[in-house]
Amino acid sequence: MSTTLTLDTLTITQPDDWHLHLRDGPALHHTVSDVARHFARAIVMPNLAPPVITTAQAADYRERILAARPKGNDWQPLMVLYLTDNTPADEIDRAINSGFIHAIKYYPAGATTNSDSGVTDIKKVYPVLERMQKCGLPLLLHGEVTDAHIDIFDREAVFIERTLNPLCVQFPGLKIVLEHITTAQSAQFVASGGENLAATITPQHLLYNRNDLLAGGIRPHNYCLPILKRSSHQQALIEAATSDSGQFFLGTDSAPHPQNKKENACGCAGCYSHHAAIELYAEAFDRAGALDKLDNFASHFGPSFYGLPVNQKKLTLRRAPWQLPATTQLGGDPMVPFYASETLQWAVVDGE
Ligand code: NCD
Ligand code: ZN
Repeated sequence: MSTTLTLDTLTITQPDDWHLHLRDGPALHHTVSDVARHFARAIVMPNLAPPVITTAQAADYRERILAARPKGNDWQPLMVLYLTDNTPADEIDRAINSGFIHAIKYYPAGATTNSDSGVTDIKKVYPVLERMQKCGLPLLLHGEVTDAHIDIFDREAVFIERTLNPLCVQFPGLKIVLEHITTAQSAQFVASGGENLAATITPQHLLYNRNDLLAGGIRPHNYCLPILKRSSHQQALIEAATSDSGQFFLGTDSAPHPQNKKENACGCAGCYSHHAAIELYAEAFDRAGALDKLDNFASHFGPSFYGLPVNQKKLTLRRAPWQLPATTQLGGDPMVPFYASETLQWAVVDGE
């Protein structure tokens, strides 16, 4: 183990982000140029208001995203449709034929930001899932139950029992990604499943636990859903992310909200991390003594699950501590990014 502890330079294959919120309108200028700096592709979440539920809407949204891309940059958005109780199974055929839709997102109705049109009972979408299983289109899950009486810290674990486990039994061939996992239960459930079951992990869930949200004062910029859990769960996620199983890969869940919507009596859920996404992961992997595992997690396991080629370009990071800005911009609004004003050990030096 490891030469990596003394490494000062790290070259990886150019990474992809398998879970990203870009928003729409003036915000695209900032969110798209940030992700396009170091990443080659990103799975783009469809929870706009109103949500992206048809292939035609995804085509329009994709054009708006591409128009916001910096000149000469070839970063690619991989589009996703938002599943509703009324999505027809034929929409899956249209999605496949489009060539630019790579997954379908399941939000339990009311689970998180802009999820009011989500699915009220998973059985209602079984015909759609049947079609997806047949053609190999992945289902991306926001894995939390929404019942008001279930404790917020237990919602992911209860989702596994009530929804995910039966879903895997009913659709054994369906490709499923449990998004932004936050618990030991999720890491273990995914690891014990087949290769058609995977999970994404965010930088905030690798670097932080619930003390970073609640101890010594409430820190609204660390509030995201699923909520940060206790440190034993954080440790289980670090072990999963640095494992060789191939089922865990990078998905930032970078989810921008203006400063005044976060610093608020009823603050929004979501952390923005694409001002320093790969550097945040490098920090977490370095602390775990596992920098040698970053390349697989960030750049190989995701494409392999989605059946896409691995990127050709490389990205080089150097151990060169730098301080993150206190604020950045989102459209016309100030925004406080994740890890604001903190110091990161790794900086990108090549691949811009
Ligand atoms: C996301 C958002 O703001 O769109 N928020 C979050 O806390 N992660 C939605 C989501 O992925 O749950
Ligand atoms: Zn998300």
